[in-house]
Amino acid sequence: MMVSSSAAVAVQERRRLLARWLDAAAERSKQAEVLVLASGHLRELELAQCAGQLARIVALDQDPASIEEMKRTHQGLDTLFPVVASIGRIIVKPLVHGRFDLVYAAGLFDYLDDTTAKRLLTGMFTALKPGGRMLFANFCHDVVDYGYMESFMDWRLLARDEPEMRTLLDVLPPAEIANTFVFRGLNRAVVYAVVEKR
Ligand SMILES: C[S@@+](CC[C@H](N)C(=O)[O-])C[C@H]1O[C@@H](n2cnc3c(N)ncnc32)[C@H](O)[C@@H]1O
Repeated sequence: MMVSSSAAVAVQERRRLLARWLDAAAERSKQAEVLVLASGHLRELELAQCAGQLARIVALDQDPASIEEMKRTHQGLDTLFPVVASIGRIIVKPLVHGRFDLVYAAGLFDYLDDTTAKRLLTGMFTALKPGGRMLFANFCHDVVDYGYMESFMDWRLLARDEPEMRTLLDVLPPAEIANTFVFRGLNRAVVYAVVEKR
């Protein structure tokens, strides 16, 4: 069953982890602003405890249906600003929505080649406030059902491991980085990279 596969378990864990990052952003700043790229339905927001305390959540996805579902689920949350747009917008004009305390993308970098990934990371980093944090996730090479996903669901994922994540981070200006942290989720199917800006 796909639902109990390592990828599905990892995506559920990823949702919980993103909810914790949203809560952490709210705890770090009373006026925290968050930019979510390729947000999908933004399901992690339903698990976040402090979502209502965030000053602004800009959630960007190219799929109008996902944006509509997000609006339906979170109607009444007037700090949520859903945007139908490609991530190309953040590559070309990183500050188009202002600066943020937290910028993240999950379920996106798996589709981006290294060149595009590095351009997007540069845009995400530019959009961070001083002291802000960014996070991105990627499926790993050794996901058990990777072949199944590619053969039967047409998900052609670009898997990465820790060194490959660190190579992507090389594009960022070292002098402006306070910390980087690369780690795997519990079942080791997804790798995460976190960068904190000085
Ligand atoms: C696998 S879903 C991930 C959704 C959510 N972030 C999560 O963690 O569950 C991938 C999402 O990326 C969006 N997406 C893919 N390519 C995109 C692009 N170039 N610009 C904006 N959104 C994109 C899709 O529309 C889809 O909603």
